[in-house]
Amino acid sequence: MSTPTFDDFDGWIWLDGASVPWREAKVHILTHALHYATSVFEGQRAYNGTIFELEAHTARLFKSAEIMGMEIEQSADEINQACYDNLHKNGFKDAYQRPIAWRGSEKMGITVAGTKVHVAVASWEWPSYFSPQAKLKGLRLCMSDYRRPDPKTAPILAKTAANYPISCLSKDIAEKSGYDDALLLDWEGYIGEATGANIFFIKGNEVHTPSLKCVLDGITRRTVIGLARGKAMTVIERNIRPEEMADFDQAFLTGTAAEVTPLAEVAGYSFVVGEEIKDLMQSYDDLVRSKPL
Ligand SMILES: Cc1ncc(COP(=O)(O)O)c(C=O)c1O
Repeated sequence: MSTPTFDDFDGWIWLDGASVPWREAKVHILTHALHYATSVFEGQRAYNGTIFELEAHTARLFKSAEIMGMEIEQSADEINQACYDNLHKNGFKDAYQRPIAWRGSEKMGITVAGTKVHVAVASWEWPSYFSPQAKLKGLRLCMSDYRRPDPKTAPILAKTAANYPISCLSKDIAEKSGYDDALLLDWEGYIGEATGANIFFIKGNEVHTPSLKCVLDGITRRTVIGLARGKAMTVIERNIRPEEMADFDQAFLTGTAAEVTPLAEVAGYSFVVGEEIKDLMQSYDDLVRSKPL
């Protein structure tokens, strides 16, 4: 039997204020966002019935919309409620959720005036972004030829579809070359991030991660920085040159989908899956599951 495609699940999608059957949650071919990438979105996870850091995700959705000049009609509270309503309507306790806002098919052309900002929330069961074996051994990343652009060149600080072609292309090349993922440098040649996750390095008691000049302000990144500081590790956010990877012992990715995932290799540099990473993975796991129902 063939695996169902993403437009062919049972379940419900919250769309512009109403719950609609999954297969009926459609947009028209002349949707502005499909042509011009005028959409913003979030990726969040529910654990044991609680959406981890929901308010932070919704705040970032609104921030992304502001950068993209999009006005979301609903309030943050209404979006939060929609996220829970959709989780419950689908009967999930553990799920990945995708709130998305986009310019619709009311007008076509570069001008955005006259388009409506639509909002939807979809939820599905998505256990682990990377395979459990890859997570145990550590992932292998190649170096992408694409770079994260200067915020003056693209709306790179927003979580918008407009930024994802470089991720999709890099991921595709990585997978076709036998890697799990790719690392993108920033426009100045410093380490940026992976295609859908932030990157960290460990040396002794120090944790180093690129500053936020053109990488996504990851909510898992923030959480893991807090966890590492709670373990009396020193966290340093700065420009990191690729050659510095030779000096680090351990490396890992963070993301809502990826959670905390160790790295074994990045662009020819090798890393061990050490005790510090295992400890952070465990603490993250405990934290996301610790919230009351
Ligand atoms: C490009 C990129 N960087 C980083 C992240 C990690 O962000 P978060 O931890 O908020 O999921 C994501 C995932 O959303 C991403 O797509």
